[in-house]
Amino acid sequence: MTAINPVTTLEIEDGIAVLTLDSPPVNALSATVRAGIRDGVAQASADPAVQGIVLICAGKTFIAGADITEFGKPPVGPALQEVQALIEDAPKPVVAAIHGTALGGGLEVALVCHYRVATRSAKCGLPEVKLGLLPGAGGTQRLPRIVGAARALEMVTSGEHVPAAAAAEMGLVDALTDDAALRADAIAFTRKVIAEGRPLRKVRDLNEKVEAARGQPELFAEFRRANARRFRGFDAPEYNIRCIEAAVNLPFDQGLATERKLFLELMQGTQSAAQRYYFFASRQVWNLPDVPADTPLIPVKRVGIIGAGTMGGGIAMNFLNAGIPVTIVETAQPALERGVRTIRANYDNTARKGRLSAAAVEQRIALLTPTLDLAQLADADLVIEAVFEDMAVKKEVFGKLDKIAKPGAILATNTSALDVNEIAASTSRPESVIGLHFFSPANVMKLLEVVRGDQTSKPVIRTSMELARKIGKIAALVGVCPGFVGNRMLAQRQREAQKLVLEGALPWDVDRVLYQFGFPMGPFAMSDLAGLDLGWTREKSSSSTLREILCEMDRRGQKTGAGYYDYDEKRNAKPSPVVEQIIRDFAARQGKSSRTVSDQEILERCIYPMINEGARILQEGKAIRASDIDVVWVNGYGWPVYRGGPMCYADTIGLDKVLATMKRFEAELGADFKPARLLEDLVAQGKRFADLK
Ligand code: 3HC
Ligand code: NAI
Repeated sequence: MTAINPVTTLEIEDGIAVLTLDSPPVNALSATVRAGIRDGVAQASADPAVQGIVLICAGKTFIAGADITEFGKPPVGPALQEVQALIEDAPKPVVAAIHGTALGGGLEVALVCHYRVATRSAKCGLPEVKLGLLPGAGGTQRLPRIVGAARALEMVTSGEHVPAAAAAEMGLVDALTDDAALRADAIAFTRKVIAEGRPLRKVRDLNEKVEAARGQPELFAEFRRANARRFRGFDAPEYNIRCIEAAVNLPFDQGLATERKLFLELMQGTQSAAQRYYFFASRQVWNLPDVPADTPLIPVKRVGIIGAGTMGGGIAMNFLNAGIPVTIVETAQPALERGVRTIRANYDNTARKGRLSAAAVEQRIALLTPTLDLAQLADADLVIEAVFEDMAVKKEVFGKLDKIAKPGAILATNTSALDVNEIAASTSRPESVIGLHFFSPANVMKLLEVVRGDQTSKPVIRTSMELARKIGKIAALVGVCPGFVGNRMLAQRQREAQKLVLEGALPWDVDRVLYQFGFPMGPFAMSDLAGLDLGWTREKSSSSTLREILCEMDRRGQKTGAGYYDYDEKRNAKPSPVVEQIIRDFAARQGKSSRTVSDQEILERCIYPMINEGARILQEGKAIRASDIDVVWVNGYGWPVYRGGPMCYADTIGLDKVLATMKRFEAELGADFKPARLLEDLVAQGKRFADLK
């Protein structure tokens, strides 16, 4: 065996050169990996003893793509295209042996090999769109030449990973093997290619499928139309589509040049920078500076949930889905039955859509034990409380639970804003208490805020984070403060939205600006959806806020056909002249005169105080890093990922600009805009949130 470089070896086995890449964790195409492939292929091509070449990877995966850490930095080492040309033009067959995932640049390398062999468990994909990019190494030109334009459009704009069997069906891979036999089978396949005198097939020369789509602009127009909602706000999907159009309409080399040009445009834009930032942010969250990776885990084999309402039911489903038995407790039979019915209805719905088999539904339901007896939680390893948001009720529940739960069990609360330390103090074991703040609907939303109390033990924290990962959530570890990270920042936006409408903006103006910014909906549409009467009672209502007035009029949101908006029977929203008048009258009663509020002011008033609050959260140590806050906002509140998250967005527009605007607002509008100390400090030091270590 010859070492080509620190990550590449070459071994010749009976006339077949096996070029092995070993660059953990994912064999990304770093400069060293690219150099290794180039030098290895060159050496094997020149060696008269070599008849064919197998390109294979060590570790858990084939090449998972370009090395994203190199993006945005000056280029070093050989260009990927140079390496690809060497493979494609090699005088002997080159066969890619794929296991794990062949993604992005990894698949693009495989696509310049003359043949591809993959394990049955492997997956192939071009996920660049998720990084705000397009496949920039010929992927957009070669893929449609194998799978056709329609399938290629879907693959490059969704970034989906295609399982090996489907890839084989489409012709993306030529043979499937068992996981353990990949190397031997790839060598045997190469020998067969040589023995049968098969051609050195170049995907670039396969024109039949792209020619079939030529002269059909409606294919692309229809694809754009059908996916307009999914692609809203994102640059990359449209760029990917244009590349497939180029593949269909232009000769290969011109298509490649189009791809190159569009790739560089995206790479230089703010969207891709934000989406690449988010890629690393979403992996950083698991890294807990003061909770080492070897902190012992608490085995969680049985879960208890208290409260089978909106949240309790959804939370239960997460564990049932992961095969973990759940005991769910209610105070009365009707509530318990309602809760179980809702869980079943949710599963049945999924089954109806063909996303779950009937047997799987039954398996999951069979793991659920409904009960009215709290004592049944005695053997639970983790108990999650999801009762009413009322401190007295929660304390009572935790007091009782303390007497029932086994020693070492994790006692979690799903409170969305209450003091986890105070809840913990109602037990004799505050070290076992933690907040697990799921978002609604809890079986769907990806985010989990893991709220560490002052005394929460490290095993409890680590186990909670690992469990979050196991049930498919993305978790951020946060500290105790009102509303934690997400709702605490949201409160800033809500406050300003309410103030803005009293100053002259209308709810639909505020909503339009935030929708255009990229949120799925604005705050008023959101309130209508959630119900304006959440936490409202007629007895205590005193017409003191707009919300109270609307509830008193039975305008409680979508469910009553009217809220801030009027709704038709299909729940389409229309601005309400009635509400407009109510707002004008209410503002007048408060002595406020109406003025024209610009869209820019709406945006800055809603977003900058959130950023400022994020800075306070960091300054108080309630979030580990700025990027964790961004993960919370992208996954819990629909912040557009192409803007990275509020803290990334602030870095993008410039903290000095945010600070100057906050100061101007503070002078004009008062203390709600007082800049956070951290924001002032960073600006003074010429730093960004991303520079905080
Ligand atoms: N470049 C650099 N680092 C990468 C990387 C990449 N392409 N892909 C993964 N990593 C790193 C992660 O940051 C992580 O680092 P950490 O341990 O320090 O946090 C580590 O590898 C492991 O990654 P995951 O935690 O994501 O591991 P999983 O096993 O869950 O997933 C994976 C593996 C499916 C390969 C997943 O990492 C992934 O989807 N990676 C990105 C794939 C991708 O987007 N490829 C396209 C890149 S762009 C491109 O190729 C451009 C080309 O067209 C020119
Ligand atoms: P809900 O009112 O739908 O459900 C609460 C359930 O708890 C009811 O079914 C009630 O009968 C039951 N319950 C009350 N006391 C009980 C007790 N002592 N023992 C057993 N069951 C008891 O409320 P929801 O919306 O599910 O909220 C629950 C918790 O989750 C609250 O703390 C809330 O702040 C939090 N939360 C709610 C979110 C939401 O969007 N609804 C989002 C995130 C957190």
